[in-house]
Amino acid sequence: MRKSEMLRDGTEIILRDYTPADMDASYRFYQRLAPEERAYMRIDVTRRDVLERQFRDVAEGRAVRLVAMAGDELVGTGVVELSPISWDSHRGELRLSVAPEYRNKGLGRKLVTELFREAKERGVQKAVARFMPEQGAIRGLLEHLGWHMDAVLPGFVRDQTGTSHDQVVMSCTMDECWEELQGYYSSDDWPDG
Ligand SMILES: CC(C)(COP(=O)(O)OP(=O)(O)OC[C@H]1O[C@@H](n2cnc3c(N)ncnc32)[C@H](O)[C@@H]1OP(=O)(O)O)[C@@H](O)C(=O)NCCC(=O)NCCS
Repeated sequence: MRKSEMLRDGTEIILRDYTPADMDASYRFYQRLAPEERAYMRIDVTRRDVLERQFRDVAEGRAVRLVAMAGDELVGTGVVELSPISWDSHRGELRLSVAPEYRNKGLGRKLVTELFREAKERGVQKAVARFMPEQGAIRGLLEHLGWHMDAVLPGFVRDQTGTSHDQVVMSCTMDECWEELQGYYSSDDWPDG
């Protein structure tokens, strides 16, 4: 997919599929995040082999990943991870990251909208997100979109420095999320289907 979008402050961005040519821009994007924030990420995004694996997951159908571009700069990315051959094949796991200077302008929500459109086409019926309580913005966004809190699993994960944290699990059926997203956009903005 490829789509031009305007953020709340009038900045124009392109939302499109992630390709191998985005690897360097993606590396630069993660390098610019604050180390404290990177530490809470599930994987070590400072490693190129990890970023290469992200692309393989897309190429082999285990993930739908989109990037948000402001000119040549990658300013946001989001993924729905799929498990096509497992008992949670109806589920997609959402992850999002937006560059600090592009936050609170509606980009996270636009990424979720386009990711869900793609995930629905692949048969995903339920969206799940797992994160640490310290990642408060994602919780705010998901609550705003009507997601439910499923669990807080005590000490279940470790950050990139090895410190243990609780893990928050939130979810939403695609139909519920879709309805919330639809309510947010005017009928002119909202795509058919
Ligand atoms: C979470 C994140 C992607 C949100 O992106 P964003 O572009 O700022 O989000 P939006 O501007 O679309 O915000 C959508 C809604 O989320 C909520 N929200 C956003 N930031 C929030 C915050 N810091 N605290 C509480 N709620 C917040 C608001 O309800 C907002 O709705 P509104 O704009 O109508 O008020 C971004 O803050 C980020 O990259 N955080 C660090 C990485 C991270 O923690 N990722 C989660 C791993 S799964």
